Amino acid sequence: MLPKVRTFTSADVDTVSAIFTGIPDGWSRNALAESLANDSIKSFVLEDKNAVVAFASYLVADDAELVFIVTDKTKLRKGYGKFLLGETLNSLNLPCVLEVRESNTPAIKLYESFGFELLGKRKNFYQNPTEAALIYKREV
Ligand SMILES: CC(C)(COP(=O)(O)OP(=O)(O)OC[C@H]1O[C@@H](n2cnc3c(N)ncnc32)[C@H](O)[C@@H]1OP(=O)(O)O)[C@@H](O)C(=O)NCCC(=O)NCCS
Repeated sequence: MLPKVRTFTSADVDTVSAIFTGIPDGWSRNALAESLANDSIKSFVLEDKNAVVAFASYLVADDAELVFIVTDKTKLRKGYGKFLLGETLNSLNLPCVLEVRESNTPAIKLYESFGFELLGKRKNFYQNPTEAALIYKREV
């Protein structure tokens, strides 16, 4: 069966929480569960061979903000992040902004491959470790 993107549900909380284990700035199990009650947060999972392999979450208002995208760390560099980001950006069809740690080369390369453009930088934005955020935006 082909990989498919679908809406994140309460049945996915444990699996996605496990995917977030050890990820800097990742969401806790509680944050994932609580996000389901927030109508402004739209989250998606990518399923391949009946397993959830990646998760992406957006804050959606007039524009979209990509809050997080993460691929199962045992399944990196297989195209899952690219597939999930492409499908969700297409379905939202809104300008999208995001922040990313300036050292996060894999994520930055992924975003730039989708035409995200650097808008600016916020010093000391992240903690543990302290690091600047790069701000990117993509028009539809
Ligand atoms: C960023 C992330 C989601 C990418 O997921 P992925 O499924 O491995 O990505 P893909 O296999 O679809 O790769 C797509 C593109 O991203 C870039 N990329 C991904 N991993 C990379 C790496 N280690 N180094 C350089 N570029 C990388 C490449 O441009 C790649 O395209 P290519 O394989 O044709 O060169 C993944 O690395 C991740 O989960 N990181 C930890 C969580 C995180 O930091 N999320 C971002 C928070 S802002």
